[in-house]
Amino acid sequence: MKFKKALMGLTAAVATVALAACSAPGAPSTGASAPAGGGGGAAAAKTLKLAHNQTETHPTHVALKEMAAALNTETKGALGVEISPNSTLGNQAEYLQMVKTGAIDMAIVSSSQLVGLNPDYAVLSLPGNWTSIDQQMTVLNDPAVTGTLYKSTEKDKVTVVGGITQGARSMYSKKGAIKTAADLAGQKIRVQEDPMFLAMITAMGATPTPMAFSEVYTALQSGVIDGAENNEISYFTQKHYEVAKYFTSTRHLIGVDYLVINTDVLNGMTADQKSAFDKVWKAAYAKHLALWKTETEKAITETKAKGAEYSEIDPSVFKTALTGVAAQFTKTDSAKALYDSITKAAAAVK
Ligand code: GCU
Repeated sequence: MKFKKALMGLTAAVATVALAACSAPGAPSTGASAPAGGGGGAAAAKTLKLAHNQTETHPTHVALKEMAAALNTETKGALGVEISPNSTLGNQAEYLQMVKTGAIDMAIVSSSQLVGLNPDYAVLSLPGNWTSIDQQMTVLNDPAVTGTLYKSTEKDKVTVVGGITQGARSMYSKKGAIKTAADLAGQKIRVQEDPMFLAMITAMGATPTPMAFSEVYTALQSGVIDGAENNEISYFTQKHYEVAKYFTSTRHLIGVDYLVINTDVLNGMTADQKSAFDKVWKAAYAKHLALWKTETEKAITETKAKGAEYSEIDPSVFKTALTGVAAQFTKTDSAKALYDSITKAAAAVK
């Protein structure tokens, strides 16, 4: 997608059509439908542009679409949201730049992008942090724990609204099930463009290959990589099972995505609009969390029916490697303080 930057000046609808025509055969659609507009069909006085990289059936899109409709209703048509899914506006690193400059208003990015603005974001995605996604979401959306962190990027005009789960991430490969560390050794595994993920895959004995999410299908298909790591829902919705059929439930970490908004756009809202925004966001992440559970089950069933082979692995196989990575990314005073604060809050949730 070399021409992504050139697309930034075009309307989202044109971008959607242009890129849909260029999608790789067999790869997930890059935007078969026009961006989902604001709620209730009524045109809003101000439309906020939001980009993400998931399909329209993914919990993220479904929850955000509901949020868009609710925001329009709650603000009586003052604010709408136009959603561009499927990486049609580029990749997550580009979204963050676009939110910074105001080219778009909001985006879903992974912790892997936010570490570029504040390395402490790595702490929230470390292996071993969370015992469940419910616990993770309670802590991540508790302003007493994450409020200061979420505002720490405002000098770059980026405010983090809150987190949504990426679920437990596991390993999948073209080569076969991973039963022992030797099975993974030397395999080229795609990672997000992020030092923590690079260190983790290296510690697990594989060779990390960083690339954007939208490039993974083709890279697996052509053999540029042997495997990748992600949750069951992305494995299904991105159709990675077609080109890497061995899914091993390593559950090496529970990751986080964030809704980010341009700080000036947020500060430009009236007090009523801000409270409406807060309300619809809370409903959106609750919806996302509920959908996550049902859609994970569905993804497993559907991918198995299409030939994917799932296997379990003894958690002790990568335990030392993963503990070492967590220690490596909690060394600075601020990382340590954040780590202590989230582990304390997590223990209180159970
Ligand atoms: C998950 C996550 C995305 C991220 C992707 C990735 O699907 O929800 O935000 O981009 O993993 O591995 O790149």
